[in-house]
Amino acid sequence: MIIAVYPGSFDPITNGHINIVERGLDLCDKLIVAVSTNIRKTNLFTTEERIEMIRACFPDSDRIEVDAFDGLLVDYARARGANVILRGLRAISDFEFEFQMAHMNSRLAPAVETVFMMTSAEYFYVSSSLVREVATFGGSVSGLVPPAVERMLRTRLEQKRS
Ligand code: COA
Repeated sequence: MIIAVYPGSFDPITNGHINIVERGLDLCDKLIVAVSTNIRKTNLFTTEERIEMIRACFPDSDRIEVDAFDGLLVDYARARGANVILRGLRAISDFEFEFQMAHMNSRLAPAVETVFMMTSAEYFYVSSSLVREVATFGGSVSGLVPPAVERMLRTRLEQKRS
């Protein structure tokens, strides 16, 4: 049985992430979308909000689980019985960081394989921070995030302004 962990900040989840989840599901029996409580990043949404947002994107799949983790990703993967870490690769700029992470994770947990999927061409320039920035200045992020996420973004940004 192949259990894959798809980790990330998902602040917020974008259509690029969703594309990776949908395609990744074809490669495994169960996919755990794991929200990182990454201390290097200042998040707009709380961990619970990000989990709720992601769950709402996949209401019908019993093969997708949404969870959060802190600490080492490989420890989390092992604890969940996962044998694959799924990552999306966008442009060349992603490669160096992903290369380092994949090798470090492989050193720490040789039995856990990192699998990369190319992000679809229509989303290769999308990132969560770019989506947040465009929305902050009133630009449309329609088509880049699901409508429910867009609404949550607007609400949160209005709360921050007032
Ligand atoms: N579509 C759209 N955007 C995508 C994407 C896709 N398919 N794939 C990646 N991105 C974007 C994200 O939106 C994010 O954008 P942002 O930086 O503007 O927020 C960026 O790419 C990278 O983010 P993400 O994939 O969420 O990774 P991350 O850098 O936030 O976190 C972890 C990576 C969680 C996997 C890593 O930090 C980790 O493993 N942490 C646990 C601690 C650990 O084990 N450390 C040792 C690692 S060797």
